[in-house]
Amino acid sequence: MAFNRFWFWYSTIALLLHATTLATDCPESPTLLHLSDGPYENYFYSDCDSSSHIIVTSPLPNSNLDLIGPRLLVAWPAGNSGIVSIFESQNGQRGTLGIHLGDSSSVETVAPIYDEGKPYPEVGVTSSITFNNSATLTVPILGSIRIIRDYTEGGRYLHPNLQAANQFSITTDGGATINRTWLDGATTTWLTFTPMNGSDPIRINRDNSPVLLFGAGTYSFSASFNYPQLKRLSPKQVLNQASIGLIDAQPDETNSLSFLAYSDKLLAGAWRFLTYFGRDSMISLLLLQPVLSDGQGGAIEAVIGSVLERINKNDGSACHEEVIGDFATYMNIQDHNLVSDSPTCDYKMIDTDYYLPVVMKNYLVDTEAGKNRVSDFLKTTASFLADNKGLTYEALAQITAEKIMQTSAPFAAPGGQTKANLIHLKDNQSVGEWRDSGNGIGGGRIPYDVNTALVPAALRAIAALSRAGFFTDHPEWATVADTYADVWEDYTLQFFEVVIPQTGAVSLVKDYVNQSKFPGPSQTETIQSDIKFYGLALDGGNDQPVVRVMNTDDCFRHFLLETSNQTQLSSFLSQTADNILQPFPVGLSSSVGLFVANPAYGGDPSYAQGFTRTDYHGTVVWSWQLAMMGAGLARQLRRCEADGVPVFCHDESLYRKIVAAYNHLWDLIDANKDQLGGEVWTWTYNNGFQAAPLGDFTASESDIRQLWSLTFLAIQRETFKQYRLNGSTT
Ligand SMILES: *[C@@H]1O[C@H](CO)[C@@H](O)[C@H](O)[C@H]1NC(C)=O
Ligand SMILES: *[C@@H]1O[C@H](CO)[C@@H](O)[C@H](O)[C@H]1NC(C)=O
Ligand SMILES: *[C@@H]1O[C@H](CO)[C@@H](O)[C@H](O)[C@H]1NC(C)=O
Ligand SMILES: *[C@@H]1O[C@H](CO)[C@@H](O)[C@H](O)[C@H]1NC(C)=O
Ligand SMILES: *[C@@H]1O[C@H](CO)[C@@H](O)[C@H](O)[C@H]1NC(C)=O
Ligand SMILES: *[C@@H]1O[C@H](CO)[C@@H](O)[C@H](O)[C@H]1NC(C)=O
Ligand SMILES: *[C@@H]1O[C@H](CO)[C@@H](O)[C@H](O)[C@H]1NC(C)=O
Repeated sequence: MAFNRFWFWYSTIALLLHATTLATDCPESPTLLHLSDGPYENYFYSDCDSSSHIIVTSPLPNSNLDLIGPRLLVAWPAGNSGIVSIFESQNGQRGTLGIHLGDSSSVETVAPIYDEGKPYPEVGVTSSITFNNSATLTVPILGSIRIIRDYTEGGRYLHPNLQAANQFSITTDGGATINRTWLDGATTTWLTFTPMNGSDPIRINRDNSPVLLFGAGTYSFSASFNYPQLKRLSPKQVLNQASIGLIDAQPDETNSLSFLAYSDKLLAGAWRFLTYFGRDSMISLLLLQPVLSDGQGGAIEAVIGSVLERINKNDGSACHEEVIGDFATYMNIQDHNLVSDSPTCDYKMIDTDYYLPVVMKNYLVDTEAGKNRVSDFLKTTASFLADNKGLTYEALAQITAEKIMQTSAPFAAPGGQTKANLIHLKDNQSVGEWRDSGNGIGGGRIPYDVNTALVPAALRAIAALSRAGFFTDHPEWATVADTYADVWEDYTLQFFEVVIPQTGAVSLVKDYVNQSKFPGPSQTETIQSDIKFYGLALDGGNDQPVVRVMNTDDCFRHFLLETSNQTQLSSFLSQTADNILQPFPVGLSSSVGLFVANPAYGGDPSYAQGFTRTDYHGTVVWSWQLAMMGAGLARQLRRCEADGVPVFCHDESLYRKIVAAYNHLWDLIDANKDQLGGEVWTWTYNNGFQAAPLGDFTASESDIRQLWSLTFLAIQRETFKQYRLNGSTT
């Protein structure tokens, strides 16, 4: 169940087994990683020629067979592409076919394919697959991960015209090949199976859509494609000199990071998000910067450059997700009736813009390496999107900063502190920030994280960049952006504040336990005063003015800002600490981590229904939220060690409570080490919480490795004095 069995190889043995041709200039050993997660067995292979992630799913005795069936999936970063094959038992009975990779009598082996070819080499992976029963390959999808996700999490949707391009053939050695040439007419994906050890020859049934029939036994397989590859950053290249020791100390995390890191972008996660996502890259950079490589060709510039390349030059919006590879051609045909593989971008998110000035300032203003790179970096001309060709990074950064200055001005104006002037989701979009599932912010239109933390943090960064000589067209930003930030810091929290008197809180939690059928204790005896928190958003569904869901998004303000309104800061820290210390369903704490959402105080049954343990942003745990909360509280507590100015530093009981919350959070992080590299996890309850993969309960399976879940490489527990009174410790 947990991600608790790891195997590593750093040998070249695998290379020698199956490779058809060895690349000539691939000096580094390949990176291999095997991660087991319930019904999912994950194998990562990468070297300087290509990267592959193989996921073999085989039902376990307790698996929900509506969600878990035998499946072989291969995902490639290049072109965000891959293959999936869905198998069924020939006897038609679900749960009776088990599959595994490799020869069970020897060490699991995945080897690369590398064949010189024009214009691009054919690359991929080869291994063997064993069926414990006779099997049918019912659905093969070859091409884009986005198309594969339409099937796996989009209600088994198949694109008929893409599927029609699959070509099947039986080979003389009893094997079978499926290939599909992409919509670009140039790239092909191949999937080949060959019987081993006397297994039956593969048969084909061409009625309706063709299916392949396998006997029980072992078959070698290869999955490959001929598409331009990305330039991987090896573990040594992704880390800075001072952090090279992490390669030996934390091989799983550093290899995973390397698998997701390329010279011109970092990828969000494997396998579902194996491509550029702006928010994921920049949050990861914010948290990981102390260990990442800087300078030209380093990981920090890969992130900042990837975001600048993808700015919408017309309105300054930062790109949420890129559309590349076969899916780009598919979309260009759909939207413009144009056969072109030109990449495009999805700009529906509103939060992504605000991270950009912050990551730029943290690197280009605050570090020596960054300062030395300013002029060359800003002069770089964009080349990724056709629309941006020839524009400098400097010009693109300014367009986004202009958008941020313009949209934040009305709220900052005298008397402008109204709800209407807060930042809203884009029209016709139901999502806009990290909780981007259908009910992630309860139908709200004005998100908490964006308005109370991201906007003022971006404004502070724009002011600092301006003072450092950036944005020469707008010298006034050096002061104006700070003036705006003052207003956004001080006057936004109040819109989201929810205070529930003690007695009302007890009955709300009891109702919630009943409505949600939560099997654990209500913990209401721990409610000793009023409950206070800041709601997820304003203008929620069911006419809720504030979405009354307690949540972990306080972490953004703690991590990104050093606010100076002392009354507000003390009270804000106080309620965060309370909510971290209180057990769910009163607070956020459980033995499997902090839940990112607690809907117990909603007072309307739709809350319990909309935020469950099977919802992507429900009563579940996200690794990076734990990291950012840890880093955020540490940032505030460090202010007491530095100048000791904040008033909370001198309020003994408050200061002690914040340190206690910080240490409690770290106890939870330490107790869940096996989960931390994963994207999100949920729980079962049996005399206490047990961590469980989200994919056990919903078609949105969690990524086994997510970029922003690797941030514990840089975020560690710090020791804070128990109490500090104007510099003297008691
Ligand atoms: C094959 O594997 C499935 C799933 O693990 C299992 O339920 C079944 O009993 C196995 N069948 C045989 C013949 O071993
Ligand atoms: C794909 O398979 C078909 C049928 O076997 C074959 O004719 C064709 O040449 C293959 N295409 C490529 C690019 O390999
Ligand atoms: C397949 O054959 C090889 C050698 O021919 C042998 O080492 C291996 O154990 C066999 N595997 C299976 C699954 O029978
Ligand atoms: C929103 O949707 C409506 C109705 O489909 C459409 O008329 C309008 O142009 C859309 N607005 C935007 C900003 O896309
Ligand atoms: C629990 O909810 C049900 C309806 O869902 C209601 O009939 C019952 O009275 C509730 N029990 C308590 C103790 O509130
Ligand atoms: C602090 O913020 C509050 C609003 O939360 C405001 O009423 C108060 O005037 C501010 N105090 C100072 C000193 O700016
Ligand atoms: C301690 O520091 C606070 C905040 O800077 C200040 O208001 C207070 O007067 C100081 N107390 C002592 C005893 O120096």
